[in-house]
Amino acid sequence: MQSSAGTEPDKRAYLDVVGVGKAFKGTSVMSDMDFRVERGELVSLLGPSGCGKTTLLRIIAGLTSADAGDILLDGRAITRVPAHRRNISVVFQSYALFPHLTVAENVAFGLRARSVAKGDIAPKVDEALQLVRMRDFADRPVAALSGGQQQRVAVARALVVDPVLLLLDEPFSALDRKLRETMQVELKSLLRDRDMTAIFVTHDQEEAMGVSDRIAVMNAGKIEQFATPSELYARPKSAFVMDFVGLSTRLRGQIQKTDGRVMQIGTANGIVFANGAYGVGTKVTVGVRPELITPGDGENTISVTLADAMVLGAKTQLHGVSDSEDRLLCEVPGIQTTLTRGQDIAFGWSVKDTLVYEATV
Ligand SMILES: Nc1ncnc2c1ncn2[C@@H]1O[C@H](COP(=O)(O)OP(=O)(O)OP(=O)(O)O)[C@@H](O)[C@H]1O
Ligand SMILES: [Mg+2]
Repeated sequence: MQSSAGTEPDKRAYLDVVGVGKAFKGTSVMSDMDFRVERGELVSLLGPSGCGKTTLLRIIAGLTSADAGDILLDGRAITRVPAHRRNISVVFQSYALFPHLTVAENVAFGLRARSVAKGDIAPKVDEALQLVRMRDFADRPVAALSGGQQQRVAVARALVVDPVLLLLDEPFSALDRKLRETMQVELKSLLRDRDMTAIFVTHDQEEAMGVSDRIAVMNAGKIEQFATPSELYARPKSAFVMDFVGLSTRLRGQIQKTDGRVMQIGTANGIVFANGAYGVGTKVTVGVRPELITPGDGENTISVTLADAMVLGAKTQLHGVSDSEDRLLCEVPGIQTTLTRGQDIAFGWSVKDTLVYEATV
């Protein structure tokens, strides 16, 4: 049995994905994937379409075989254990319920497949339906349920078998925004109460921020950053993560001067300063979170023409334009009506809030 390289046995993660690689018909979709989840954690895989989220989930579940690497669960290699013997539950995007069966029959299905004693099935099903507050619907055919109700049945069916790990692949993507938010809160407390370890796939960054202990941001078969939601937002490791998690003002620039700690950066919107140590001449992307910018002068200041002031209720978004194609965005709390389109204003912010990344193109 292969152990996770270089780690003490007691330091092992609950789920340890070590050096996993996968190619489809000769095209690599992931290589050297390392991914560790602690017991009881709710972790999200967040990334654009096609980056490999479902593939990684299927490899962990044993539904797709990896070409390289190992999967360890609770210290045991399960790489060659078939899917039906891993006791990992998967909730698919489509729910994959049996429409002609009732709610209770759907939930009981996995227990029957595992040859659970007949007398034990009904109480377990009842408990699982109670958890997702679907007990009153037990005898209804699944076809006669709303999307949100079907989703809950799918979760009950996944939980009833007491899985060692729960995998959810975009379970809420078919639901409207309100119901999605309700389901997120419910799922989170349900999993916490049961101390369940779960991996949740989404390409909705707000959803990932809302439900997760930690988020793995994926890009083209690689994990770009794996951190808590607040860490990802405040200290994105790359311009990709900054763009994928939250909004930002984004300027293209070039380092003009540096003392090794503070850099002077020339942009199409004027000079800005930032902490960092890129060398003179380096082309960079400068980012600032919009709520850290205020209208008016700051340590860093750029002039913009207001293209739009969008009142969103709890905040107002100020969209600037300039001669450059850079994205200029500032968010102020509350309803802001004194600023109008076409007005020239300043965006100001602190040096410490200025994120800088080496430009990739
Ligand atoms: N069975 C398969 N055969 C060939 N290529 C595949 C197969 N499954 C996935 N791929 C390819 O692998 C890459 C990753 O796919 P995957 O489904 O894991 O992406 P994803 O991150 O889940 O995307 P989405 O957000 O659209 O669900 C894609 O380029 C996809 O076309
Ligand atoms: Mg997918």
